[in-house]
Amino acid sequence: MNMTTTPAPPVSMIDPAVLPTGNGATLEARTVAAWFAEHQILDDISLAMPANSVTAIIGPSGCGKSTFLRVLNRMHELVPKSSLAGEVLLDGADVYGIGVRPAETRRHIGMVFQKPNPFPTMTIRENVLSGLKLAGIKNEGSNDDLVERCLDQAGLWREVKDRLGSAGGALSGGQQQRLCIARALAVSPRVLLMDEPCSALDPTSTLRIEETIRDIVGSVTIVIVTHNMQQAARVSDYTAFFLGDEGRPGTVVEFGPTSELFTAPNDPRTEDYINGRFG
Ligand SMILES: Nc1ncnc2c1ncn2[C@@H]1O[C@H](COP(=O)(O)OP(=O)(O)OP(=O)(O)O)[C@@H](O)[C@H]1O
Ligand SMILES: [Mg+2]
Repeated sequence: MNMTTTPAPPVSMIDPAVLPTGNGATLEARTVAAWFAEHQILDDISLAMPANSVTAIIGPSGCGKSTFLRVLNRMHELVPKSSLAGEVLLDGADVYGIGVRPAETRRHIGMVFQKPNPFPTMTIRENVLSGLKLAGIKNEGSNDDLVERCLDQAGLWREVKDRLGSAGGALSGGQQQRLCIARALAVSPRVLLMDEPCSALDPTSTLRIEETIRDIVGSVTIVIVTHNMQQAARVSDYTAFFLGDEGRPGTVVEFGPTSELFTAPNDPRTEDYINGRFG
């Protein structure tokens, strides 16, 4: 089935009562394909990303890694003339099912981008709380507690606790990225997608983000795209190797436990890629 983007009716099939927020969910792609106009970007991607684990997606530039992340949380359909096929299941519920609102999916499946993008003139505190406002969520407890919890989870609390009223844009790049993680966590996502979250950061900030990833994976499933093989090996439980280029849509060459994929890959192309022989 090749679906073009149509507005979805205003009901959700992801029942928050059935799926308690704040816990990682299993995210499964089944035979996903994606296009920009006539150009097929992804073909036959099937991956089950287990709850409360880190899955790394690696592969050469242009093979469709970012597109795949955008399919997972319904951002792909925001691009004019995009289309897709296949299914994405969040704890078994089809996020493209009839009646599922894209905004609801994006709340359950958050995203952190390559370039830290806090609201620069908003305060640190306002940044953390901004996702709640956008999603129209009313926080049951105290906002102070939520801000502290999210900044603490993101590994930023100690550095900023005395200046929550300073502008988000006044932090260092690494701190800004941790602020973006705190902002994403504030809406209690089930899954956090991270698209090269460290590529704009220095090595120390990169390690700090990796620690943060390992700290939060107990409460949220993580899918991280990275070009850094050491990072994939350090931070992920599972790794998927994608391959594709302008001529051929991206597919999964190999998917498995990171320890196995990096030490004993099944496919010679995986071995060549992780050893830096191409891409
Ligand atoms: N908005 C868009 N409109 C049309 N084509 C696009 C769009 N975004 C990406 N593409 C194309 O889709 C293909 C896959 O791009 P994508 O950004 O998903 O790759 P990637 O694996 O994330 O690459 P990189 O490692 O460089 O970030 C590329 O050929 C790209 O030119
Ligand atoms: Mg990309």
